[in-house]
Amino acid sequence: MDNKKIIVAIDGYSSSGKSTMARELAKRVGYVYVDSGAMYRAVTLFALRNNLINPDKTVKVAELISRLPEIHISFRSAGEDGVQHTLLNGEDVEKEIRDMQVSNMVSPVAVIPEVRSRLVAMQQEYGEEKGIVMDGRDIGTTVFPNAELKIFVCASPEERARRRLREMIQKGEKVTYDEVYRNVVERDRIDTTREVSPLRKASDAIELDNGEMTPVQQMDWLIEKFQNVTAE
Ligand code: DC
Repeated sequence: MDNKKIIVAIDGYSSSGKSTMARELAKRVGYVYVDSGAMYRAVTLFALRNNLINPDKTVKVAELISRLPEIHISFRSAGEDGVQHTLLNGEDVEKEIRDMQVSNMVSPVAVIPEVRSRLVAMQQEYGEEKGIVMDGRDIGTTVFPNAELKIFVCASPEERARRRLREMIQKGEKVTYDEVYRNVVERDRIDTTREVSPLRKASDAIELDNGEMTPVQQMDWLIEKFQNVTAE
């Protein structure tokens, strides 16, 4: 008999390595992977491109809400680079949604309740058939409170800034450690203090502090947790 299909919710701080773990787990066990952060980033890119951000870096909230029906987000399955690409109204925006301009504006966009409820509804639809790994901030608490396996990933802000800097430099972005560190700390602050679905560990989530772990150790740890639940 096949093992039962489950929902895996992986939440945690920005640049904690949760997306890498989630993507790799999905690949190994043949599940669908959804990067919910990419969806908030795509909405932010739409806002930047459509003049919905004020010069003082605040969001034109009412206007953005009125334009939400125009925003369609989908994913294209992994191509040659092995990475799933995010599409905004059919356009591949995988690269644009990762740049600093989007990173700096995504948290203020993600605090808007109407943005959240629209994206949460889409995320819940993806999970209807189970067999999904989704990562984000509120997956175990709000999107799938009944997920069979919930992981909460953390590591120090210094370690996470170092990882993000490495990633960005590899992609050819010109940023400094200080800029990245400030962005990490500021996003932690906004993500944990916002009113709707703040980032917090679900009471039934298993915590993983991966600051001192290699990627291989993290995967072994995660696969074991997955097998414990699916074999029950
Ligand atoms: O995981 P990430 O860094 O790509 O996420 C980008 C931003 O999106 C993050 O600063 C907070 C927001 N986010 C959220 O509010 N809820 C989620 N489920 C996922 C991301």
